[in-house]
Order: sequence, then C-alpha cells, then structure tokens
Amino acid sequence: MNKLNIVILAAGKGTRMYSTLPKVLHVVGAKTILAHVIDCAKTLNPNKIIVVYGFGGEMVKEAFANENITWVKQEEQLGTGHAVQQAVPFLEDDADTLILLGDVPLVDSSACRKLLEQANNKLAILSFNKDDPTGYGRIVRELTGNVAAIVEHKDATVVQRQINEVNTGIMAMPNKYLVTWLSALTNHNAQGEYYLTDIVELAVNDKVNVVAEITADEWSVTGINSKTDLAQIERVYQLRNAQKLLQQGVTIKDPARLDVRGLLNCGRDVEIDVNCVFEGNVSLGDNVKISANCIIKNAIIEAGVQIAPFTHIDDTKIGENSRIGPFARLRPGTTLAADTHIGNFVELKNSQVDVGSKINHLSYVGDTTVGKNVNIGAGTITCNYDGANKFRTIIEDNAFIGSDSQLVAPVTIGRGATIAAGSTITRDAPADALTFCRAKDQKTIVGWKRPQKIKK
Ligand code: UD1
Ligand code: CA
Repeated sequence: MNKLNIVILAAGKGTRMYSTLPKVLHVVGAKTILAHVIDCAKTLNPNKIIVVYGFGGEMVKEAFANENITWVKQEEQLGTGHAVQQAVPFLEDDADTLILLGDVPLVDSSACRKLLEQANNKLAILSFNKDDPTGYGRIVRELTGNVAAIVEHKDATVVQRQINEVNTGIMAMPNKYLVTWLSALTNHNAQGEYYLTDIVELAVNDKVNVVAEITADEWSVTGINSKTDLAQIERVYQLRNAQKLLQQGVTIKDPARLDVRGLLNCGRDVEIDVNCVFEGNVSLGDNVKISANCIIKNAIIEAGVQIAPFTHIDDTKIGENSRIGPFARLRPGTTLAADTHIGNFVELKNSQVDVGSKINHLSYVGDTTVGKNVNIGAGTITCNYDGANKFRTIIEDNAFIGSDSQLVAPVTIGRGATIAAGSTITRDAPADALTFCRAKDQKTIVGWKRPQKIKK
C-alpha cells in the first residue's frame, strides 16, 4: 500500500443531538465516537491523521491531547468539499488520502483496507445499497457499470432518486488528484455547498478510474445524528461485542442484555447472566460465574469465583473460589485472597481480606486488614472515620467478631481473639481471649405493658 494520509471530517455541529457536548464526543461503549474512528484510522498505519473540526473544537482537541493528530479548523461549514480543502496544506504530495467521517463509530478497518488497495491511481468510493436512500448521495453508474457521478439527494432527478446505491462518504484517492479536484469545486447546487462528491465527475473528466466498493455492513457506515441513532449504534456495538465473547466460548445468557464499556477479558467456561455491566478493565478467570444484575468495574476476578446477583464491584481484586454477594459492594482498594466469602449487604472499602475469611451479613469494613480464617459476624462496623481523619483496623488470623460489634479505629484485634456480640471496642483486644464491652445488667420488668394507641 502507498503512503497514507487520513482526513477525518468532524466539523458538523450535531444540532440534532440537542447537547452542549460536540457530537463526536458522545460515547459508544464508553469510548467517544471520534475515538472509535481514530482507533480505526490508526490500524491502517497512516503517515498522518488530520481531523477537520469546527463546533466545540477546543473540547475535542483536549479529549485527544495525547494523540498524534493534525488539527485543522473549518471556521464555516460550507460543505464536505470545503472541509477537505482545509486539510490540503497538510497533505503529502506522494501519499494517498482516505477520507473518514468523524461520526461513524463502527467504521470497519478491513473495508478501508480494501478501498485503499483500489485507490492506487484511482478514486475509490465505499457505497452501500439502502432500501430507503432518502437524503443520501446516489451512485450514478453508466450502463457498463462504471461510476459516472454522485448526485446529492436534493440535486437528484426523479429517476436518480430511484437509485438505491448510496455514497457512505468514505473514499480514497491519490493526493495528486485530490488536490487538483478540490480546487475545481464550485457551490452551484441545491444546497450552495462545496460537495466533496463532485470530485467523481472531475475524475471521470480526467479519465481517472472510479470504483465503488459496495459494503454489506450498513452499521459500519452509519453516521450518528441523534440520540436515537446513538442508542441504536450502542446496541449494535454491544451485540457485536457479545458475539465475539460467545465465539471465544463465554456463556452469555442473553447477548442482548450485556454491556461492556471498556475491556472484558474472559478465561474458559465463564458464565455471565443477564443485565451485567462491565466497565474499564475487567478480567474474569476460568469458571467464574457472574449472576444477574452485577456492575463490575476495573476488577481482577480469579478462577472459580462466584458473584451472586446485584453485586457492585469497583477497583477490586478477588482471589480464587471466593463467593461474593448477593447485594455486596466492594469499593476501591479492596483485595480479597482465595476462598473468602462476602455476603449480602456487606460494604468493603480499601481493605485486605486474607484466605478463608468470611464477612457474610450486613457489615461495613473500611480501611481494614483482615487476617486468615476470620469470621466477622452480622452487623459489624469498623468505625474508621472520626469526622476528620481515617484510621485502620487490624483483625488478625482466626479472630471471631461477634454480631453487631463496633471496632473503633485505630484498633487491633489479636490473633484468635473473640469479641462478644454487641461490643463497642475502643482499645486493642488481646490474642486468644474473649473481650466484651456491653451494658452489664440484663433486667426484666415483670408486668410491664406496651403503650396503647390513644382513642380520640
Ligand atoms: C454526505 C455526502 C453524501 C453521503 C452522506 C453519507 C456530500 C456532499 N454528501 O452527505 O453523498 O451519502 O454524506 O452520510 O459529501 N462535514 C464537515 N464540514 C462540512 C460539512 C460536513 O466537516 O462543511 C462533516 C460532518 O461533520 C460529517 C460529514 O462531513 O461528519 C458528512 O456531513 P453530513 O452533513 O452528515 O453529510 P451530507 O452532506 O448530508
Ligand atoms: Ca450537509
């Protein structure tokens, strides 16, 4: 393939998004629309990526500050041809240019590659057949099948409007031709715009071959103009992602009810039930089972772990064969070793729990180091915050914390210690002993009556 320049058109206002955010910064699968296009562009190893921007441009540039991109501003939107004209000073004489649209997130690199193979000394256009071609530029072919022109919908005759083959907007050609054709564009048409599509007729006049490659994958050329389009593309993107996982052997109960907003890596025999959302980087080891309605973000979940329904996991590592949930919440900085059990309505934050320990019911454990084979009873709370500062709790191996206890940090519960239920522990509890701290006397008032409702 020849030396490559890629021009991405992204100056559109996106009025129909009804948003202050520039259209190309809306997200599909947690990645901005433009990032999808740029990532596709990068797989083609271009010499240069030039983005033509307009509305909200500063915000767009900031979002891609780390990318090696040439930014070109189109001050006024005078049409797609005018947009590409802005990039001319940055095009390399001896390269081919691929034009991509910044609002087509599912753009397919293999289709682009095919187009570029054609572009060698030709003008190559990506087209597709649309049942309802209203609004699109029509590919006008001669009887021989050769492409003669692209006619925009508003300029088309009644007969031309019957044509179903339409222009995707994606095209490729040598720069030596492109630059000349761009300088010859006029805006004498129904919209008073400089149409990029007019280069087809200029190519035909110059006896340069024009080829149109028809793609069958409509979604890969669908642009986003509204929140309806965005929602539709999101589902297509998610379904395609789910299908890839299925092909790798992941069991997904309903591929239409899975959302991966980032990267999900799965081992063998992983099962994912319905309505789970994965964000950031998540890896699931062999035989991991995720039940319905879990939200899992930036997590490493090792082999054999079972996550029961309605569990939230964020920035957490879970060791082999652990059992989590239902209704558990694991917050950032949490690390669980192998064979741990975290049950319902248990919240963990910035805590390390060692092998075989259990926190099964209704507990808050924050800023805590839990040793091996510890049992933390129902309703235990580590009081880690005095209103200004946070302190750590240390619970050593084999400790047993009775239900409804409060451990007021900083505090250490020694190895093998037992804390009696209902204790408020404010000083260190020694190893291998029973420590308790509750109201001394249990009293009974015989004959006591419950209050009665007062009749009016
Ligand atoms: C264009 C094509 C049409 C094709 C359709 C596919 C032209 C004249 N028409 O239509 O043949 O079927 O795309 O969707 O090329 N843009 C700019 N600056 C401008 C105008 C547009 O950067 O001045 C960008 C937009 O941000 C968008 C892309 O170019 O990413 C296409 O513009 P849009 O207005 O959506 O396409 P049409 O002109 O309707
Ligand atoms: Ca337009």
